[in-house]
Amino acid sequence: MSTNIIAIDGPAGSGKSTVARALADTLGWSFLDTGAMYRAVTCEAMYQGVDMKDDDALGTLASQVQIVTLPRVSVNGRDVQDQLRSDEVNTAVSLVAANPKVRAAMVDRQREFAAIQESGTVVEGRDITTVVFPNATLKVFLTASLEERSRRRDDESEHSVARRDHADYSRLVSPLRQADDALILDTTGRSIEEVVGEIIQCLKNIDSK
Ligand code: DC
Repeated sequence: MSTNIIAIDGPAGSGKSTVARALADTLGWSFLDTGAMYRAVTCEAMYQGVDMKDDDALGTLASQVQIVTLPRVSVNGRDVQDQLRSDEVNTAVSLVAANPKVRAAMVDRQREFAAIQESGTVVEGRDITTVVFPNATLKVFLTASLEERSRRRDDESEHSVARRDHADYSRLVSPLRQADDALILDTTGRSIEEVVGEIIQCLKNIDSK
């Protein structure tokens, strides 16, 4: 078991998943994409016909559902990888992620996942540095211009990305925030290697203290 955690937050398309995956590969650590967990709950709610505005029904579903994120995302044994970024899920996931019961269930699972990893975990999302792992070994907040973020999301429209940003920043429960002591990196126009290199350097500086 390991307590090594790199927590990464940032808005959609800021490079979190790509950077987190590359970091986990480089360090030999596990990787957890928490956005995929909220998307998986959304897929299952759509599949079961649960009303997205029914807080209790969604909360019950989230506490009972079985989610696997790697190598592909599945929910209750059903592969939903190809549905995760559909327009329907992009729209509905903000409601699901704003539900306090769903969040509580996901946060428990995220902590349980990290607690059983051998070497360490790179976790990315929106509340990882502030709520899930406020005492992470290293906290990182990634940003990028809206134009570049929309392009990175397979050309999801700037309007759609901005709508989700607004929902993420303004929701009452665990809104997206920069942790005071996070390393803040603007990834606009920068390569993955450069960003990963800077984070690893920062981790080495912490280790050598
Ligand atoms: O990172 P993503 O776009 O796949 O995230 C999907 C949605 O889930 C997005 O609206 C933000 C939300 N989310 C969240 O509220 N908390 C997290 N830890 C991860 C994602």
